[in-house]
Order: sequence, then C-alpha cells, then structure tokens
Amino acid sequence: MSYVIEAEDISLSLGKKQILDQISFRVGEGEIFGLLGPSGAGKTTLIKLLTGQLKQDAGYARLLGRDTGGLGAAEHSQIGVMMDDLGLYERLSVYDNLAFYADIYHISRGKIEELLESVGLYEARRRAVSKLSKGMKNRLSLARALMREGKILFLDEPTSGLDPVTTRQMHEILAGLKKKGVTIFLTTHNMYEAASLCVRVALLNEGKIIEQGRPGEICRKYNDLNLLRVTLKSGEEVLLKNSPASALRMREYLEQDAIWAIHSTEPTLESVFIELTGKEWI
Ligand SMILES: Nc1ncnc2c1ncn2[C@@H]1O[C@H](COP(=O)(O)OP(=O)(O)OP(=O)(O)O)[C@@H](O)[C@H]1O
Ligand SMILES: [Mg+2]
Repeated sequence: MSYVIEAEDISLSLGKKQILDQISFRVGEGEIFGLLGPSGAGKTTLIKLLTGQLKQDAGYARLLGRDTGGLGAAEHSQIGVMMDDLGLYERLSVYDNLAFYADIYHISRGKIEELLESVGLYEARRRAVSKLSKGMKNRLSLARALMREGKILFLDEPTSGLDPVTTRQMHEILAGLKKKGVTIFLTTHNMYEAASLCVRVALLNEGKIIEQGRPGEICRKYNDLNLLRVTLKSGEEVLLKNSPASALRMREYLEQDAIWAIHSTEPTLESVFIELTGKEWI
C-alpha cells in the first residue's frame, strides 16, 4: 500500500507546554483515518502540522511523500482542509463564499453549482452564511474543501454540533468521497462515528497516541472488558465476565430457568479509552 500521509515520532511544544509527544502513524491512499480524542488532546494542532501550518520540533511528517515543512503548490492543489472554525465569510452568500475562494486560488467557478448540489446546499445558494444553520455551514465548509478536487481531505470535527440526521447526511457524503478514492483524515469526539466510518483510528490523549488500529481489532484486543449482562426473571440485572469463570453461575441460572435475557456488552472504543486513561469521554 502506498502511504499518502506519514508521521514519525512527531513532537511539538508551544510555549512551555508539550502539545504533541512522539506521534507516529501512516495513512494509506483511499483510507478514512480517524483521530479521536477529547478536547485539548492535540487534534487540531496535528492537522495544522500535517498541512504545513505549523512545524514540529522533532520527528518528520510527510504528505504525498513531501516533508510538510516544504509543501509547494503541487501538494496544496491536492489537499482540501476544513478547520474547526470553518473560516466562512458570514456576510457573503453561500455561492459567493465559494466564488471568492475559487478566484483566490484560480479555480474555475464552473463547478460551484454542482458542488453545492452534492452537499445539499443548491437551494440555499443565495442565502447569506450568517443565516445558515450549523449543519449547513459545516457542509459549505466541506464544499469549499472539495473545490480543489484534491486527493486528500483534512476534516477537523466535520460533524461537531450536528443533529443525528444531519450527521448522517455528512457521513453519506464522506462515504461517497471515499468511493471516489479520496483519502480522508478526520478528527472527532464521536466514537460511533469513528467506528462506523474509519478503516483505522488513533486514540489521542494529552498529545500521545495511546492506541491505534482498526476499530474492531482495538476492541477485540481489550476483550477482558467484555461482559455479559444477564437480566433475571426476578428483574435483577447481573454483570458477569464473559469468561469460563462465569460458567458455573450461568449454568445455575439456566438450570433454575431464571433468565429473562442475556446481552453481551463487548468493548467499544469508548470503554477502551476509559480503560486506558481512567477518564470519562467527553
Ligand atoms: N498557539 C498555541 N499556543 C499554546 N498552546 C496552544 C496553542 N494552540 C493550542 N494550544 C494548546 O494545545 C493543546 C491542544 O489543542 P488542540 O486545539 O490541538 O486540541 P483539540 O484536540 O483540537 O481540542 P478540541 O477537541 O477542543 O478542538 C491545548 O492544551 C491547547 O490549549
Ligand atoms: Mg480541535
């Protein structure tokens, strides 16, 4: 597999604070890679570094094989970036935001309408950004990141603050882009989003990657968190480890015909994170 984003042992301090600590990962062409972590973990900082907006103190980062400290027009034309502040012009219309961007970067205005259609904003094209909902603003910011039709998209919390329906629309758009072969690097707080969208994820906590891999594999690795929730006919709920040690209790319940329902509570990315950091997810 060819890697389009590579980071090896990246560290960065801002002021006296170490923000990123020996970060290493690789993203293959066409993958959706998720960077998961609570607020303040360093996700936005890492995107800035990978897109050449910040320089690391140690280690290396490469984008399309090029050191991110020296990205040129060739690389910039291949990346789309949606930062968490969205960076839209509130007074301009939806259409004019993209037209303005197109003119600055010498991109044809010809594709704007089609792009607005693809993110469901065509009807709203004449509306001022200040009059859009949060979900519409997110989709406009995504449309802007797609203007260059690059190979790689960096999306900083593309679904933060969105309701479940709008989140699903965004997921469908991202799945469509993946089908077209676009590589997507996204950050999120949302474990469900990461597990359902991403081929691989990295869990970031206080500037360190504490685990990375395929969501299913990470969960299986921490299988000792796997519990059986047994609801008895008496109404009592019993949590048993899913291990041979629980066999005797289960057998007793079965013999007494005492069981109403059994559910397995396999580890989720969330329970793994809590196990590794001792922190509740936010
Ligand atoms: N310019 C800066 N100077 C000093 N510290 C900074 C600077 N920018 C960010 N930080 C600090 O770096 C840490 C990581 O911030 P970052 O914005 O990357 O987190 P995040 O994971 O994106 O959080 P969120 O989920 O809230 O967006 C925070 O402690 C933040 O205060
Ligand atoms: Mg952030």
